[in-house]
Amino acid sequence: MKLAIIYYSKTGQTKEMAEFIARGMKKADSEARIFSVDEPIDTEYVNDCSGIVFGTPTYMATSHWRISQWLMTESGNFSLAGKLGGGFATAHYAQGGSDSAILSMLGMLLVKGMLVYSGGSAFGKPFIHHGPVALDAVGDHYEKSKEMFELFGQRFAEKALELFE
Ligand SMILES: Cc1cc2nc3c(=O)[nH]c(=O)nc-3n(C[C@H](O)[C@H](O)[C@H](O)COP(=O)(O)O)c2cc1C
Repeated sequence: MKLAIIYYSKTGQTKEMAEFIARGMKKADSEARIFSVDEPIDTEYVNDCSGIVFGTPTYMATSHWRISQWLMTESGNFSLAGKLGGGFATAHYAQGGSDSAILSMLGMLLVKGMLVYSGGSAFGKPFIHHGPVALDAVGDHYEKSKEMFELFGQRFAEKALELFE
C-alpha cells in the first residue's frame, strides 16, 4: 500500500506534522512518502498511491495559495480520481481559520474525484473532525498534537487498506 503526503510549508511546521502523519501510516504497514509542492514530485509514485493527504499552513484563515495553486494547476499532471484524500493544517490560533484551510483543500479533492476521509471522530479521542490541526500560539498545543497527527496517519492508512487491499 503506497500513500503520499503533499504539503506546502514556509517555516517547517507543516512539514514536521507531515512527518508525524507518515510515521503513523508506516505503523499500519504502508509505504509513506512526503513531497513538498516546491520540489519535484515523483509522478509515478503518486499515481501508484491509494491515498494522499494534503497539508497547509493557515494563511488569512484559509489554505496557503501555493497548495491551492498546486491543486488547481499542477495536480492535473497526476491521477487523483478514486484515491482516498485527506487534509491537515497548522495555524496560530483556534479561531485562526484552520478548519476553513482544511475544507478549502478537501473541496478541491472532491472536484478531483477523490474520496475524502477525516480520520473520523467516531473512533473516539482524540476527536478529528475535518482533519488534524496543530496550533503554535496556544500553550503547548503544537507539541501535544504530534501524537494526534501520527494517529491520523495510522487511521488514514488503515482506511486505505480496508478500501483498496
Ligand atoms: C502571512 C501569514 C499569515 C498567517 N495567517 C494566519 C491565520 O489567518 N490564522 C492562523 O491561525 N495563523 C496564521 N498564520 C500562522 C501560520 O499558519 C502558522 O505559523 C503555521 O504553522 C506556519 O506553517 P509553516 O511553518 O509550515 O510555514 C499566518 C502566518 C503568516 C506568516
